[in-house]
Amino acid sequence: MKDIISVILAAGEGKRMKSKKSKVVHEICGKPLIAWVCQQAKKAGIDKQIVVVGHRANQVKEALGDSYHYCMQEEQLGTGHAVMQAYDFLKDRQGIAFILYGDTPLITSETLQATIKYHNKEKNTVTVITAEFEDPTGYGRIVRDDSGNVIKIVECKDADERIKKVKEINSGMYCFEVNDLLQALKELKNDNAQGEYYLTDTLEILISKGSKIGAFKIENQEEIFGINDRVQLAQASKIIRERILFNHMQNGVSIIDPQSTYIEDDVKIGMDSIIHPMTFLEGNTSIGEDCVIGPSTKLVNSKVSNQVEIVNSTVLNSSIDDNTHIGPYAYIRPDSVIGKNVKIGDFVEVKKSEIGDNTKISHLSYVGDASIGKNVNLGCGVVVVNYDGINKNKTIVEDNAFIGCNVNLVSPVLVESGSYVA
Ligand code: UD1
Ligand code: CA
Repeated sequence: MKDIISVILAAGEGKRMKSKKSKVVHEICGKPLIAWVCQQAKKAGIDKQIVVVGHRANQVKEALGDSYHYCMQEEQLGTGHAVMQAYDFLKDRQGIAFILYGDTPLITSETLQATIKYHNKEKNTVTVITAEFEDPTGYGRIVRDDSGNVIKIVECKDADERIKKVKEINSGMYCFEVNDLLQALKELKNDNAQGEYYLTDTLEILISKGSKIGAFKIENQEEIFGINDRVQLAQASKIIRERILFNHMQNGVSIIDPQSTYIEDDVKIGMDSIIHPMTFLEGNTSIGEDCVIGPSTKLVNSKVSNQVEIVNSTVLNSSIDDNTHIGPYAYIRPDSVIGKNVKIGDFVEVKKSEIGDNTKISHLSYVGDASIGKNVNLGCGVVVVNYDGINKNKTIVEDNAFIGCNVNLVSPVLVESGSYVA
């Protein structure tokens, strides 16, 4: 069986980010830049991934976790040298090495798959992903002979005037036959303008050995957009955000104002739910069908069932069951479990509490470390006084109790079922 292995280069310094963090761990829609690349590679069926790390290596490893193979490039001596660091991992393998960059998060699995397919069909030794740029400044140029065959890639800094006019550029992403790649890497020299070992020079080396080289030219240039500074980070975020919103809309979710709606990649939303403006859905959040969320609402790592309405509110690490109404201006803090048909109204804060089905907490209340039963009414201004300055204590209000306005439940308190407190 032929392996397909991605080698993801992420050792560079990324000076232009002006950051204490590694460039590739800066986030787009809740995920580090490099994780977007890894995710697309995985989606394309590439399940072995090697990440070449250098600058701030530990941050990159921490951000990606231990399901990847890491190679350390102590000194950044060029892209060819970077790939060389994966030598030991690659040397006993047959198949394709797909070279990718950790800072090009917009590449899609479809393009990766299409490149692999083309590479195999053409029986190429190398297939480089290219694109035509109106302004190709800074990029390596694809040089072809009179019959259109790729003969080499020339870096911008090494290019003469004739080559600088070429608009077809090297994306930096390539499929290589592993064995040929490793042979060519051994022959790389660094006698060029930057004194670096250029991966691009392997093409000429392989051609001189009679290998077949091909280019896979893509139309959608944004896929090879690399992030160097925070302006580009914001531009790429916008594109990824639009892709996420597009998928939800295609799946039957209405998004009233995509410009002001922020949905992270792992969020799930059911059919016929409506998302109003200025809404942020983050982390591992899931929303059922026929919900109305927003405006101005933030949900983080929360599970919302069906037919729920949440208006102008924040919900963190909690769950909300069917037909419940939250807000406006409610704050549901972590570890809260809100039942079915519940009403939580304005300026109500709930923390680490269970609220039973059909219960109403309509206005101006604090409920912390409490278990509130079913069919309970908490009147305006009810406060669970859960903290005595030293300990947090628990309050239990059983089913069908009625707690009137301005009652302070100084915990620990047990209100038995059907009780009435004025
Ligand atoms: C490279 C290509 C160029 C292409 C461009 C596309 C070479 C010689 N040139 O140029 O043809 O048009 O990408 O963006 O390959 N890296 C390492 N270790 C190193 C050097 C780089 O890990 O020693 C990583 C960087 O972190 C980065 C990527 O490789 O993610 C590309 O490096 P960079 O220096 O930006 O390449 P360019 O000079 O732009
Ligand atoms: Ca460079």
